[in-house]
Amino acid sequence: MGRLEGKVGLITGSAQGQGAAEAKLFSNEGASVVVSDMLTEMGEEIANDINGNGGQAIFVPLDVTSTEQWKNAISKAEEAFGKLDILVNNAAIWSPENIEDTTEELWDKMYAVNTKGPFLGTKAALPLLRKSGNASIINIASGSALKGAKGATAYASAKAALANFTRSTAVQFGPEGIRANCIHPGPVNTIMLRTGMKGNHEKAVNNLPIGRLGLPEDLAYAALYLASDEASYVTGAEICIDGGLIA
Ligand SMILES: NC(=O)c1ccc[n+]([C@@H]2O[C@H](COP(=O)([O-])OP(=O)(O)OC[C@H]3O[C@@H](n4cnc5c(N)ncnc54)[C@H](O)[C@@H]3O)[C@@H](O)[C@H]2O)c1
Repeated sequence: MGRLEGKVGLITGSAQGQGAAEAKLFSNEGASVVVSDMLTEMGEEIANDINGNGGQAIFVPLDVTSTEQWKNAISKAEEAFGKLDILVNNAAIWSPENIEDTTEELWDKMYAVNTKGPFLGTKAALPLLRKSGNASIINIASGSALKGAKGATAYASAKAALANFTRSTAVQFGPEGIRANCIHPGPVNTIMLRTGMKGNHEKAVNNLPIGRLGLPEDLAYAALYLASDEASYVTGAEICIDGGLIA
């Protein structure tokens, strides 16, 4: 029996990277999966892969900054699978600017996707998660939420806000059987890191106790644990999956 047998999960930004790894792993562990992203073709491919491997998945187009699109995604999840037990707020954008170079527009965009997106998703999913009575919200923040940084100021700040939003979610909905936890990835070998570091992404390994970049699967296993009933006493927690970065 899989670790998520009978559960239904929606993962944002799951057309590639960590979100796609989570969608596949959750399916391998018995969950039905709603793959969602702004990248329609790639997202559909992930859902097709899952279905081709004997799993159950649908793709829904979702820009996490849109309340309307969230409503649509949640109703598509209910239509396809009848319920929702797991929400992974994974979608995000990154940008390298320090404080002086951060424009007001960039600041607002970072918060819109990386903080408001998870807020809108939590709110939209709440009625179904409540009905589940045994639900798990997993917010993907970042190691940069836990320390000052020389760059990526708006990103790090938006992720720190997400970490505290996670705590409030845990406190407000724990009594209703909804857990909420946060994962802080270190450098993970996805398009976000490769683009952000302009091909010099191996440099992110410098000074990392575990001398390699994270794989999307390293993060997916942490999300799997938090999504599963093995974590039924875990809420409001923050887990660093970062090769020792924060240590
Ligand atoms: N890669 C790293 O080194 C790293 C480090 C720390 C934290 N993280 C976090 O991990 C999570 C996953 O990132 P990843 O590394 O897989 O990156 P990724 O760029 O591979 O995946 C992010 C996905 O989010 C989607 N997305 C972006 N804006 C969206 C929006 N408005 N609505 C819906 N989808 C949107 C993108 O299309 C993309 O498919 C993110 O929250 C990221 O901030 C990543």
